[in-house]
Amino acid sequence: MLKFGAEEFVPYPLPDGALHDAIQRMRDKAAQAELVAANIANNLKATGDRDGVVLPIHGLAGGTGATTFAVNLAWELANIDEGDDAMRVCLLDLDLQFGSASTYLDLPRREAVFELLQDTDAADSESFMQALLSYQEKLHVLTAPSEIIPLEMVEGKDIAKIIEIAKTNFDYVVIDMPRTVVPWTETVLTEAHVYFAMTELDMRSAQNTLRMIRALKGEELPYEKLRYVLNRAPGFTDLNGKARIKRMAESLDIKIEVLMPDGGKQVVQSNDHGVPLSDVAAKNPLRKEIQKLAASIHETNVSAAEGS
Ligand SMILES: Nc1ncnc2c1ncn2[C@@H]1O[C@H](COP(=O)(O)OP(=O)(O)OP(=O)(O)O)[C@@H](O)[C@H]1O
Ligand SMILES: [Mg+2]
Repeated sequence: MLKFGAEEFVPYPLPDGALHDAIQRMRDKAAQAELVAANIANNLKATGDRDGVVLPIHGLAGGTGATTFAVNLAWELANIDEGDDAMRVCLLDLDLQFGSASTYLDLPRREAVFELLQDTDAADSESFMQALLSYQEKLHVLTAPSEIIPLEMVEGKDIAKIIEIAKTNFDYVVIDMPRTVVPWTETVLTEAHVYFAMTELDMRSAQNTLRMIRALKGEELPYEKLRYVLNRAPGFTDLNGKARIKRMAESLDIKIEVLMPDGGKQVVQSNDHGVPLSDVAAKNPLRKEIQKLAASIHETNVSAAEGS
């Protein structure tokens, strides 16, 4: 019977309560599977009437915290308003090979994503919405595909199509970008309202920033869309640190407007548990700064919409 797929068996003659226990175990299992499925399947319907704000995040050096920032920013935006007023937020993990947005939200990577990317000509709002997973029914995530795919498998037109569909169905489209500059980086930069460039206060970040600016200027791309985010930034009381930030900004001829503090071990723990910071460490300094930034982005967006 087990060979043919039976999940439970009870010996005969029946020990006291054995049948009841076996049935209970099966019921629990079924209920749990249901819960998992209901929790992550995307039930959100396509609207097709939005014009979302596109916010990519690009780590200019490895491990600078781009994905942590993207995931938590998307989550804070999704929680700005409640109920019917809640913002529709979508997180696109375009770090197609090693994207970890799904890890940080404890979501499975899906085959449907690969299928979507492979044939974007056939993609529409319906198929896009079906490829998304939901995190607590508030944040909608296009995870990276389950297998490593060549970055050149997708082209500018594919990414343009995905962003276009995302924009028409969501108020905010947060994008985790691969660190490598690819042909479609230009596509995303063109679509972006603001393009966050994540750095740290070190030489490799400074040198990479310089390379990035040169590359964008060389191609006559809109480098002025870049907003520099300094992660693990020294605190206000660290005068020496402040002077170093100023020196870095001056030598690169950029403004470093967004400073994100070190959030300590809680950040790794929250990522490892696959739960956003707000839900496990609401008072964490990094969480508070990301929350403030989300509020200010939303405020700017609302007043821009009212002005137009
Ligand atoms: N402000 C912070 N305070 C403490 N830990 C942080 C902070 N930002 C990121 N981390 C930790 O640093 C590590 C790298 O973060 P993350 O994966 O977000 O970086 P990344 O830039 O996306 O990396 P990759 O180059 O692999 O894409 C993670 O373990 C994360 O928990
Ligand atoms: Mg990352």
